[in-house]
Amino acid sequence: MLSGGKVGLRARHDDDIPILRAELYDDVVNSSRAEGGPWRPITPGSKDPRLVVDDREQGRVQFSVVELEGGTLVGTATLWGIDTHNRCAHIGLGLLPSSRGKGYGTDVVAVLCHYGFVVRGLRRLQIETLADNAAMLRSAERNGFVREGVLRSSAWVMGEFLDEVLLGLLAEEWKPDARA
Ligand SMILES: CC(C)(COP(=O)(O)OP(=O)(O)OC[C@H]1O[C@@H](n2cnc3c(N)ncnc32)[C@H](O)[C@@H]1OP(=O)(O)O)[C@@H](O)C(=O)NCCC(=O)NCCS
Repeated sequence: MLSGGKVGLRARHDDDIPILRAELYDDVVNSSRAEGGPWRPITPGSKDPRLVVDDREQGRVQFSVVELEGGTLVGTATLWGIDTHNRCAHIGLGLLPSSRGKGYGTDVVAVLCHYGFVVRGLRRLQIETLADNAAMLRSAERNGFVREGVLRSSAWVMGEFLDEVLLGLLAEEWKPDARA
């Protein structure tokens, strides 16, 4: 397991799946905002790749996020689009509604940076998020990510086009223990 100050990132367990499905992916608004695609229901027991991890997949590493104290499941974290030629990847995360606003998101970003830069030897990490996602923007910026651009009207979300912000962090800019 990878540990931060408050949360740990571990492998997906079978009993995480119904909780993540009910609390993250069955929620039409949350899912539409986070997924970059149209919401559709996930059939219980299906092998939906957002929930059921294929360990052979090289381009994506999925974690379940747990509280360090007690081990309660609080969300998901993903390093995706791993490009070993250009040594870059993207970060994604989603916390259960009751676990938001407690500093966990900031901590998850820190742990994903450690995994990307130290464990995987990547040079650049990238995040795309909706321009109105203040908590995600702040979680990224506290870890040193800088805003590199706005993708105007790039996301169709529940009846409207929204802007996305692209943030990047290079290995040499990353300060592991200094969250701004
Ligand atoms: C986005 C998300 C991962 C952030 O994690 P979090 O644990 O809620 O965020 P944190 O508690 O670490 O807060 C980070 C900062 O944002 C601020 N913040 C938290 N919730 C906020 C809100 N709703 N509005 C404005 N600011 C907020 C915090 O005060 C904190 O700022 P500070 O460091 O100056 O004190 C989480 O809210 C989430 O899972 N949301 C739904 C899914 C999602 O949007 N995923 C990202 C898709 S790209």
